[in-house]
Amino acid sequence: MRIDNDKLIAYYADPPQDVCLEDIDLNRIPRHVSLIMDGNGRWAESRGLPRHKGHVAGVDSLREAVTTSVRLGFDVLSVYAFSTENWKRPAREVNLLMRLFATTLVKELPLFFQENVRLKFLGDLDALPTETRNVFEEGLRKTESHTGMVFALAVNYGARAELTRAARMLASDVAAGNLNVDDIDEGALANRLYTQGLPDPELLIRTSGEMRLSNYLLWQLAYTEFYVTQKHWPDFSKWDMLRAICAFQGRNRRFGGVGES
Ligand code: IPE
Ligand code: IPE
Ligand code: MG
Repeated sequence: MRIDNDKLIAYYADPPQDVCLEDIDLNRIPRHVSLIMDGNGRWAESRGLPRHKGHVAGVDSLREAVTTSVRLGFDVLSVYAFSTENWKRPAREVNLLMRLFATTLVKELPLFFQENVRLKFLGDLDALPTETRNVFEEGLRKTESHTGMVFALAVNYGARAELTRAARMLASDVAAGNLNVDDIDEGALANRLYTQGLPDPELLIRTSGEMRLSNYLLWQLAYTEFYVTQKHWPDFSKWDMLRAICAFQGRNRRFGGVGES
C-alpha cells in the first residue's frame, strides 16, 4: 500500500529519544503484521482494578494500532482477540469480552470508513453469542467494498481447530470427487484456512513478555519474525509499533538459505 509521507511525518512528530524515524526504511515495511494482544489482566491487576478494566483500556491501544498500521501502509493487520481456549475463563469475563467486542465494533465502525479499512474475521463465529455475531456480520457487510488495509480480528480462533477444519474440508472435497489426493499441496491447504487470500505475517508482535504462540496461526507463522515486548497491551503505543518495525528491519531473514552476506 502507498505510504502518505506527509501524514506519516505529522503522525510521528515528537518521537521519544529511543525511536529514530530516519532508521525506518519505508520501502521495507512489512505487508502483514500480526499482534497477540496480551496482558490486559496484569495491567489491570497492577493498578488494583478488576481484569475487565484492562480489556476496556486495551481498546484504546487497538484503535491506535489500527491507525498506525494504516499510516505505515500495512496491507494487513491481524490481531488475536479471543482464543478457542479463552472459553475456560470465568463466565463473567467471557461475557464481558463478548459484549465489549460488539459495542467496540459498533462504536469504531466510522474509523473503518474514514480509513477505508476492510474487516475480516479469523475463527469460528458460529459459537459466539448472537448479538456479537450479528454485529460482526454487519461489520463485514458494511466494509466489504473497502479497498484499504485489511483488519483481521481473530475471535474464537485456534490454529489447531483451523488446521483440523482444513483437513476435513480437503477430505470432503476428495470424497465428493472435486479434488484428487495428488492435488493436495501447500496451496490447497492454505486456501482452506481462515487467512485464505492474505499474505503470511512477516512480523508477529506479542505484548506482556510471554514467549509462546498460545495456538495462534501455527501454519502462517512458519517464517515470521517474532518481537516480544514486556509492555502490557494497554500500554502499547504507536512508538512501540515503530520499535517493532525497527527491530524487524534489523533481522536477517534466511528462510533456510544462507541469507544476506
Ligand atoms: C489478553 O489479555 C486479552 C485476551 C486474552 C482476551 P489477558 O486477559 O490474557 O491478560 P493477562 O495475560 O491475564 O494479563
Ligand atoms: C493469547 O493470550 C490469546 C489472546 C491474546 C487472545 P492468553 O492469555 O490466552 O495466552 P496464555 O494462556 O497465556 O498462553
Ligand atoms: Mg494472557
